[in-house]
Formats: sequence, C-alpha cells, structure tokens
Amino acid sequence: MSQNAHGNPADIQVSPASGYVGAHVRGVRLGDSLDEPTFTAVRRALDRYRVLFFRRQFLTHAQQTRLARRFGPLAPPHPWQPPAPDHPFVHRLITGAGTPRTPEERHRARWRSPGFLSGWHADITAAVDPPSLCVLRAERVTSRGGDTTWADLVTAYEQLSAPLRRLVDELTAEHRYLVGYVPFGVLDTAARTALDAGLVAHHPVVRVLPESGLRALFVNPAFTSHINELTPPESRYVLDLLFAHLTRPEFGVRHHWEAGDVAIWDNRATAHLAPEDHEHLGEEREMYRVFVAGSPAVGPDGRTSAALSGERYQTAVPPEHQAADDPAEQAPDASADRPAGG
Ligand SMILES: [Fe+2]
Repeated sequence: MSQNAHGNPADIQVSPASGYVGAHVRGVRLGDSLDEPTFTAVRRALDRYRVLFFRRQFLTHAQQTRLARRFGPLAPPHPWQPPAPDHPFVHRLITGAGTPRTPEERHRARWRSPGFLSGWHADITAAVDPPSLCVLRAERVTSRGGDTTWADLVTAYEQLSAPLRRLVDELTAEHRYLVGYVPFGVLDTAARTALDAGLVAHHPVVRVLPESGLRALFVNPAFTSHINELTPPESRYVLDLLFAHLTRPEFGVRHHWEAGDVAIWDNRATAHLAPEDHEHLGEEREMYRVFVAGSPAVGPDGRTSAALSGERYQTAVPPEHQAADDPAEQAPDASADRPAGG
C-alpha cells in the first residue's frame, strides 16, 4: 500500500477542523473491516486531534459496534437506559420527539433532564472508569441547529498559568449525577433513577494520558461537584474558574451534523456540549452511541480514581457480549438492522 507524507495509507486525508482540536478524515469507509494500516492511521489521528469527523458513512448498528470494538472492549451504552434491541452496546439518543412546545414547558423539560442535555460534560464521569472513547453517528438530523461542540481538555490544561497547573496537579474532585441539574422542587422519576444508579467517583483533577504523557483537565460542570482538598467556597471559585477556562471557544471545535456522519472522540481528553437549539423545531434528531471501555484515571502524582459508590462501569457488560465474533458485526452489509427512519 502506498503512503502519503504523513505515513498514512495514500487515500486517507486528515484535515484539522480548528486551531487545537478535531479533524476531518476522508478516504476511510468505516463500515468496512479496517485493515491494519488504515486503523493505525485513524488511531494516530485520534491521539493527535482527539475528535475525528467522518462524513457520509451511514453505518448500521452492527458496523458501528464492530468499529468501536477495534479500539478496545466495549462499555455499556448507558448506566440505566436499555440498549437498542439486539444490539447491547448501542444507545439511541432521540430529541425533538414529543417535545413540549411552549417556552415554559421547554425550559422545565430542559432543566428536569438529569442526564447530559444541560451543560458541558464528558460521558459518565460519575463512574470510576468512564468510557475512554465515544463513537456517535447521526441517523437523522434537524433542518438546522443541533451542532455538538467539544472542548480540548489538554489545551485547556496547557494554557493555564504555571502556578495554576501546579495547584490543579495536586487536586482530586468528586463526580456524581445531577450536579448540573436544577430540580423544580421535587425529584422526578428520571432524576430518582439517576440517583439510584449510585455512581459516585473521585478522580484526579488532572489526568495523564498513558499513551502520550499529555495532561488533561478532567473536570466538567455536569458531573464535578467539588474539589476534595479545598473548602467549599474555595472549591466553588476554583471550579468556576476551571469551567470558564476549559469552555473557552478557542479551545474547542463545533460540528454541524449531516445524516450518515460519525464522530469518534477521546472522552478522557475532551468535554462536549449537547445542542439546545433544535428542540423547538418540531423535528426529530436521531443519534446512536457506542462506548469503548475506559480505566480509572491516573493523576500526575500517580493517584488514581476511586469509586465512592457503584461498581466499575465496564464490568456491567456480560462476558458473552464482549465476544468479537458476533455474526451480526461480521456482516458486511447488515442493512436489515438499520433503524426505522434511517
Ligand atoms: Fe455526552
């Protein structure tokens, strides 16, 4: 196979999508079984850019699962919501369906959401071992809006001043559900379910990526409740400083989804913001997500994440589901399992 100037297979092009983070990858068909040079090129691009975008892939559930499995064992697609039928690693994200229409109803629905729709977050950081990678595909998109934005937590760390880097290097923080959540008086069923899931973890505020030694600012507004080593007011001020810093637009990249798109991102080194600007359109947006399992974070001083409540997230996967010889994933054109509407 011939190679281009980056050492990649000749037909793969990687184009940065912003100043610091994200890249568009062309010349790869993710629905195929990726040969080793192609997979290596994708993996290298992911390590370099942390978020990769692939247009017009139109993957099936089985193809998306097989793709994610190339990167490692898979994690449950959601802590308590059921996966897609017959696809234990695929989580359906649908918005716009039955959405309340008055501004008041929309506002309440948004802030009653216990999950992820209100605020910057990395996925499932309430677990001691949050997913390492996320593979998200767009099945149906709205006529406008619905963009996802990512923040580069490595750049955010590196662009703190040296005294602040030294401070955060020594800190740990608690992550739990409903931190970025403002209930209207009572906890509704969804919020109770989130609390009952019982995932609470302590993570180093700075996470060292083992492949590169790079450091990432591993806190996010949706899950991080407080810094353990500081007083409550100190914790609030420092977290607000860090949140304002890591969500600065210049550290991020924004993607406008088209049907068939796939994004793969490093959930250890980025945070993302789900869109809030399409729920009023009366149109459904349908996405599917698969997680690659992660590990407890390791800080600069060697301290690792600890579970205060809950098991390791990836152990919730039945061993038989981790078998890589699932015939459905081997089918080159598993069109039968395309979801309705796709
Ligand atoms: Fe998310």
